[in-house]
Amino acid sequence: MATKEHNTPLSEAQIAQLTSAATAVAGKAYAAYSGFRVGAAVLLEDGSIYTGCNVENASYRLTTCAEQAAVAKAVSERGPGMRVRAVVIVNLNGEACEPCGACRQTLLEFGSTTMQVLFPEKAGQRQTTLGALLPHGFVLSHQC
Ligand code: THU
Repeated sequence: MATKEHNTPLSEAQIAQLTSAATAVAGKAYAAYSGFRVGAAVLLEDGSIYTGCNVENASYRLTTCAEQAAVAKAVSERGPGMRVRAVVIVNLNGEACEPCGACRQTLLEFGSTTMQVLFPEKAGQRQTTLGALLPHGFVLSHQC
């Protein structure tokens, strides 16, 4: 469920650490069909970092995106209350990898519209917020 989080800017050291972690995990991607190897590193509100890479499948639609893998790992390790403060997404071709629509919704589930989203490319860093990328994300309003 989306709640408010702080939106203190990331430090240069944090950006470097997250970029390095995302780049390292991208090297483990299984991108047998697209050749587009992606790594994502999520920074949680508690300061911990979790990473994930894309995992493709011969039945293409079964592919898991890097961001989804990172979120699944963070929930598995920290539990359902974990909150994402920032995410860095890289691919090894040096192109900007803006998160796909499904990943934007996945990230919103564990963060807020102030979540910082960074995707470096050859020309430099691109940085925005989840709210700018997904202005009207779906939130389920009723309690189960
Ligand atoms: N991919 C991601 O891992 N994250 C995204 O946000 C966009 C796309 C992956 C899925 C697929 O393995 C490859 O990039 C090409 O679409």
